[in-house]
Amino acid sequence: MMIKSNKTNRLDYFSILKRCYLEFLIKLTGCSQSIFVDSQGVMLEALLRAGIVFPYACQSGVCGACKCKLVGGEVYLDSFSESALTGHERNQGLILACRARVLSDVIIRAPECDPSSARQNDILDVP
Ligand code: FES
Repeated sequence: MMIKSNKTNRLDYFSILKRCYLEFLIKLTGCSQSIFVDSQGVMLEALLRAGIVFPYACQSGVCGACKCKLVGGEVYLDSFSESALTGHERNQGLILACRARVLSDVIIRAPECDPSSARQNDILDVP
């Protein structure tokens, strides 16, 4: 599990994105499905677009409602408020889905997850 958020990594990340198109999978623990997200996409937007019921409010890294655990994979976190996600929480692997840009296939654990209403075209069953 890796969370990147310093300026050097941000420059590297976006320079890579300019050169190629990548697509990753987001897997939610407890669900048998994974969701595709493109390399420039935000995790929360991909989840909501797929019809996953996921907690959120501000969508700007201020409220902390979209906090979830990064179980595996790498994300880059755009700027957020320390009141939404403390350093201690980051050290425990928590992230904000509304600020997370996916850098690899990832596994997350969210407090609430209801994939039952997910649209079929956005979901890929994972064996
Ligand atoms: S929705 Fe408010 S911090 Fe993500």
